[in-house]
Amino acid sequence: MAEETKRGGAPQEALLELRHIRKVFNAGTVSEMEVFHDFSLTIHKGEFISVVGSNGSGKTTTLNLLCGSLTPDAGQILLHGTDITKMPEYKRAAFFGRVFQDPAKGTCPTMTILENMSLADNKGRPFGLGRGVNRKKLDEYKQQLELLHLGLEDKIDLPVGVLSGGQRQALALLISTMTPIELLVLDEHTAALDPKSSENVMELTDRIVREKQLSAIMVTHNLRFAVEYGTRLLMMDKGACVIDSGPDGKADYKIDDLLHTFNQISIECGN
Ligand SMILES: Nc1ncnc2c1ncn2[C@@H]1O[C@H](COP(=O)(O)OP(=O)(O)OP(=O)(O)O)[C@@H](O)[C@H]1O
Ligand SMILES: [Mg+2]
Repeated sequence: MAEETKRGGAPQEALLELRHIRKVFNAGTVSEMEVFHDFSLTIHKGEFISVVGSNGSGKTTTLNLLCGSLTPDAGQILLHGTDITKMPEYKRAAFFGRVFQDPAKGTCPTMTILENMSLADNKGRPFGLGRGVNRKKLDEYKQQLELLHLGLEDKIDLPVGVLSGGQRQALALLISTMTPIELLVLDEHTAALDPKSSENVMELTDRIVREKQLSAIMVTHNLRFAVEYGTRLLMMDKGACVIDSGPDGKADYKIDDLLHTFNQISIECGN
């Protein structure tokens, strides 16, 4: 198993590795776009990584490569040292909990909260819904909903489509972490919410990551969230990490430092 020595001595266990990744979209056409030329990133067990970066820098593509929504043109993806580069997305789904920017994406709007939770709870097992939901499970789901402090335990039989965006993102977070996962993957999951809901969902995210002792990677354009939350900070630009705080250097970065680097990148691009 790959290990690195952290500043201060303790070895860090590699959870997921992107090794020498190349990714080209629309190869051989006029719109050919090489997002990654030789990109490597190691995510360690227990890390909560905040990722910032300009539009089109490759943040979502990184998450898509990890989760198997995209396959690289060259390079390897390893999970606990095992090569999963060719493992299809549906098989990798058991390892990842994913919450997207669009609150409509993480849950099924026509199904009730209970049905959504039951389906997630039976992830990887066939006929999840057909098993029905017994009393014990119902109580367990309600207890989990109570932890969100949104009163959703009293709306368990309502279709998810009637919930607000913030409530749906909170539920999506809960659902994506119901079964044991290797990595929680968040792609601008607070971006579509109003400031208060965004704050609530961010705080909830931090609480869930801590309580369930998850490893997580969160893409955000909110520099304050990136600085305040997480254990490691990355800034991406043109398919590379231009800032990597590492596990011990996160506290060294302030919003002004990030803005300064952002501005420098923009100036270099001529924007
Ligand atoms: N499926 C695809 N087909 C073609 N081009 C793509 C595809 N996915 C991403 N790209 C291109 O790859 C580049 C990186 O996109 P990506 O979505 O990773 O950026 P991002 O850093 O997440 O940006 P944003 O902050 O806008 O979400 C962009 O130029 C984008 O247009
Ligand atoms: Mg993106």
